[in-house]
Amino acid sequence: MKRFAFATVSTLAVVAGSSVVAEPQAEVLHWWTSGGEAKSVAVLQEEFASNGGTWTDMPVAGGGGDAAMTALRARVLSGNAPTAVQLKGPAIQEWYEEGVLADISNVAEAEGWADVLPASIAGHMMCEGTWCAAPVNVHRIDWIWANADVLAANDIEMPATWEEFNAAAEKLQAAGVIPLAHGGQAWQDATVFEAVVMGIGGPEFYQKALVDLDPEALTSDTMVQVFDQMRTMRGYVDENFSGRDWNLATAMVMNGEAAFQIMGDWAKGEFLAAGKKPGEDFLCASTPGDGYLYNVDSFAMFEVEGDDNRAGQELLAKLIVAPNFQEVFNLNKGSIPARTDVALDAFDICAKISAEDMGTTSAGGSLLPSYAHGMALRGSQSGAITDVVTAHFNSDMSSADAVQQLADAVANSY
Ligand code: BGC
Repeated sequence: MKRFAFATVSTLAVVAGSSVVAEPQAEVLHWWTSGGEAKSVAVLQEEFASNGGTWTDMPVAGGGGDAAMTALRARVLSGNAPTAVQLKGPAIQEWYEEGVLADISNVAEAEGWADVLPASIAGHMMCEGTWCAAPVNVHRIDWIWANADVLAANDIEMPATWEEFNAAAEKLQAAGVIPLAHGGQAWQDATVFEAVVMGIGGPEFYQKALVDLDPEALTSDTMVQVFDQMRTMRGYVDENFSGRDWNLATAMVMNGEAAFQIMGDWAKGEFLAAGKKPGEDFLCASTPGDGYLYNVDSFAMFEVEGDDNRAGQELLAKLIVAPNFQEVFNLNKGSIPARTDVALDAFDICAKISAEDMGTTSAGGSLLPSYAHGMALRGSQSGAITDVVTAHFNSDMSSADAVQQLADAVANSY
């Protein structure tokens, strides 16, 4: 744009309107910093660059994105929003209500997003009838990952019930293996918790407790049992779990120090980036019980000045939902494409299970949004729940007290 530096405003508008001169640029805020994540986001950077875009990277380390969201708020408050932001779930609509999101409906309509995205995913990308985010993938949360050799050496199958999981964990512990690789960060505690809520209570209970925030469900005997299971699992993690990053916990499973990890399928991206093969080196199975907890990564564009930025936002949105990116990115990321028309031939068995289960649970009404990954609730509400979950996991709080605190915290979070 240098050569137009002295052009009058009206000339600029005409030149930019021809869309020939705008040089797409984007500052992209994301939290994809682990090995598998970095490999995945590099796919977007490369596609953006090969389409003439200039990418300014703004990675904010911290699994689950809490640190990234804090950085985002600081940038927006100082009037200097990034061009494109990894953002998801109701947080998209919360930012829209603050009047800071750009409308990307022109791209969505030109690219026919409504025809290739499932309605449930498209719904998360809409703000009052306009498109305000572009979906990248579908991550499943309720997974158990295991080291295949460790299980075989201890004559253990992938657990199909929580009783089986506990029995396997006891056996492993007796054999000197850490049963559960876990990082003691609030969002990781919440990730395990929501899988246990759905597993023990069932999908309908999950919906009532963690989506509808029904006080009866929150204080029920079932929720007491959920906290009992969390307490049992606290006994299966090693002493050094506090503060550990999720990918380091995945590495413990990879190197045989630990047997299992309960984590979304970005953990698979880590195994794959390290050259590990599903079914051979590591195993995947959904956590015990019915249902499917989904987590859709997406990007929202923030209102920023300048034709180059606008061109960058449009190019990014277009590339993100295009079939090639959806395939290559998700092969690395561990997730499955958000589009329904991408063939899964190149994907592994875990991805195929995910896609199939997504179809059946969607038809059966048990495809549910992850609360722990910001898909189900507003931030104040999910934060209130996670505070109690993590306080319980890191103390000797009784299940009865945890349930009471949970109900109180939710009641005060509106
Ligand atoms: C995101 C994933 C990310 C994970 C760990 C989740 O909330 O959806 O894309 O890999 O956090 O950072």
